[in-house]
Order: sequence, then C-alpha cells, then structure tokens
Amino acid sequence: MAVASCGLDFGTSNTTLGAVEADGQIALAALEGDHTTLPSAVFFNFEDGGAAVGRAALTSYVAGTEGRLMRSIKSALGTALINEETALQRSRISFRGIIARFLAETKQRAERQGAVSFERVVHGRPVHFVDGNPDGDAAAEQALREIAHTIGFREISFQYEPIAAALDYEQRHVTAEEIALVADIGGGTSDFSIVRLGPARRERSDRGDDILANDGVRIGGTDFDRDLSLATVMPLLGYNSPMLRPNLMAPGRYFSDLATWSLINFAYSPRIRAEVRQVRRESARPELIDRLLTVIEHRQGHQLAIEVERAKVTLSDRLETTLDLAAVDPDLVATVARAELEQATASLAQRIAERLRRCLHQAGLAPGDIDAVFLTGGSTLLPHVRRDLLRELPEARVVDGDKFGSVGLGLTLEARRRYG
Ligand SMILES: Nc1ncnc2c1ncn2[C@@H]1O[C@H](COP(=O)(O)OP(=O)(O)OP(=O)(O)O)[C@@H](O)[C@H]1O
Ligand SMILES: [Mg+2]
Repeated sequence: MAVASCGLDFGTSNTTLGAVEADGQIALAALEGDHTTLPSAVFFNFEDGGAAVGRAALTSYVAGTEGRLMRSIKSALGTALINEETALQRSRISFRGIIARFLAETKQRAERQGAVSFERVVHGRPVHFVDGNPDGDAAAEQALREIAHTIGFREISFQYEPIAAALDYEQRHVTAEEIALVADIGGGTSDFSIVRLGPARRERSDRGDDILANDGVRIGGTDFDRDLSLATVMPLLGYNSPMLRPNLMAPGRYFSDLATWSLINFAYSPRIRAEVRQVRRESARPELIDRLLTVIEHRQGHQLAIEVERAKVTLSDRLETTLDLAAVDPDLVATVARAELEQATASLAQRIAERLRRCLHQAGLAPGDIDAVFLTGGSTLLPHVRRDLLRELPEARVVDGDKFGSVGLGLTLEARRRYG
C-alpha cells in the first residue's frame, strides 16, 4: 500500500484528518459517513464489549445502551489524569489508552478511504495545553508523540493549531502582504497567532520569522457548557441549596463534576453515591437532591451536558431556548435566554479577549497594526465571544473561516511542505 503523509487535528470536541494525495492535492478525509469531522468521543459498550467513536458513540449513549461514554479526552493531556486509569466493566483503561484507541480508529478510517498507509504526521497542538505550566505542556506533547508512535506513525512532528489555521487562511484568502491575527476558539482552548502572510511568503520553507506571536489559554466551549450548566441546570438538582444546619449549602463538587465534560464519570463512583445519599438526609431541599441522585444512578450526566451544549449552540442564533430535562424529572422544563448565557460566561469571554491583548503585546504591536482577523473554531460562533474579541481590533478586516476544518487543512498543508 502507498505510504502517505497527513495532518491530524485532534480536538477537544472534534477531530479531522487531512491527507496529502499522490498528486500533491490535499483534502480532509470523510471520517464518519460524509462528515469530515469526527466528534472526539468514545463509547465503551458493556452489552457487546465493543467500542464506538464519534456520532455513533453519542447515539449509543443517548439510546440508553449500557456502557460508558468518554468525551473531552484531550483535556486529560497536561494533567495527572493522563496517566491514570478509569474503570470499564470488568477492566480498566488509561486515558492515554482511550486517546490511542480513538486516534487509531481515526487513522484507520482515513487510510481505508484513501487506500494508503499514513506514516508521517503533522500533529496539531494548542499553544498551551495547560496554563502557566511549561512542564505540563511538554509532557502533553510527549504523550501525544508516544500515542502517535503506538498507533503506527513513524515520523511525527507538531505545529501550533492557530499557525495551522493561518496557513489555511493564507492559502485561501490572502492576495497581498498583511499582518493577520488568527483566533481559534475551540472546545478546550483559545489560541492566538499573529503572523505575517502573503502570496510570496507562502512559498518559503522557513516561516519562523513570519510568526510574530503565539499565545493561548485553556478556555473553550466546554467551559462555557460547564458555567451555563452551573447557572441553569445544576440549581434544579440542588446546587447552592441549603442544608438543615443553618448557613450550610450542599457541597458544590458533585455539581461541578457533573457539569464538566471530562469529569462526569467521576460522579458515578460508589463513594460519591454514598456521599450524596448522606447529603440528601441532611438537606433542607431533599426533593432537589433526589434529582441529583437520579442523574447519578441513571448515569445521565452526559445527557444533561449534551442538552446544555445544544442549548448553548441554539442561543448563537436565537434569544431563548428550552432545556429538555424530562429524563431527570418529567415535570422539569427550563428556559434559558441568551442574556443568561452571556451573564454566566462573561468572565470566560473576557479572559479570552485578555489573552488576545497579551498576544498583541508579545508581538509589540498595537491593535491598528493588525490588517485582518481570522476567526476559526466552533466557539467563535458565540456572539459575545466574537463581540469581545472584535472590540479589541476595531479596524481589522474580519474573515470567517471554516470553523471546524481550517486547522486540519493547515496541518495538512504543513505536512505537504515538511514531508512532500
Ligand atoms: N453555533 C455554535 N455556537 C456556539 N458554540 C458552538 C457552535 N457550534 C459549535 N460550538 C462549540 O464549539 C466547540 C467545538 O469547536 P471546535 O470543533 O473548533 O473545537 P475543537 O477543535 O474540538 O477543540 P480544541 O481546538 O479547543 O481542542 C464546542 O464547545 C461546541 O459546543
Ligand atoms: Mg480546534
């Protein structure tokens, strides 16, 4: 079989893989039906012992199949979690192993489709996997490198995700020399690059001098989901509710774990269940804690998170939406307004904009020096995130990229340049 090169964008929420074809053309592979994105999710099916990935993983979980759903697995990188194990039915699997399984399946699907074997990869990485922890960043990249090796890649190199997006933008939209700021606001991280782009520069082999700044912060769409859940759904399950003893509230940890994609499964442990039963006995609002128990006992945490994420996405187009919480309690309906989402997540949007300012400072540039701002990543669709970002660059031309494909395509351009 022909040996080929690829670009791999392993995202917190979605993954893409682009192939460099024999004639030098590049294209994203269809990874699930016609979709070029594969949701970064794995479902371990306890009924048949198999594992599903992507939309199929989410569908199996939502259908009530006995098993365990893992999402936001990239978030384990750069933290101690990556070397820990989680219980499946009768076995245990490390987070590293889960990522390997997901990426191996991604690679094989693209290989089958193109009848090639990918041996060389340009792997994307956020500028920072974790905040203020260079050792954590290095460990995260090393873990990804080892995983890539395990699944059969022979030559492995990395590129920052926002630089990759810049390369895709340059290829498609840039006709004259300019300074661009690329903002890639994804599921787990917000990344910025300031780059000098242009048709003549595109051909150069070393672009190091064109990169004026790179910075990022570990905030993404999953954090917006968490804060929206804590503001709208978790209070219905007893978050911030009083205990019988005066001045005490139900402990917040159960709720924050359930609201955080990467931690949901921890809320299902026998120890936590026992603790929550005790909380119910001491609660002044036991009818609310009963709902929390229902969610834990029926493992509905991801179902709630999916519903919260759906509401968040809907609010990008509409001013109000309803949350379907009937699985928890048939009488429970909640409406949520865009204004509530904005209020609950205002500080996240501001911290993202603050990082953009830091990136400008790093480059030694003033806002007026930026000719164009290129927006990619699903969370740039959030109106208030977009507004807060663009407020920092009032004069720049705004270019909307392929929100879910730019990084993968840019990594593939880079794979062609590096490996041919
Ligand atoms: N219309 C929308 N409005 C708001 N958010 C959206 C919309 N569509 C998708 N999102 C959010 O975008 C995020 C996924 O974006 P993307 O696929 O760019 O992330 P990723 O590349 O997987 O993550 P990362 O690059 O941070 O590792 C999710 O949090 C999703 O909820
Ligand atoms: Mg991304």
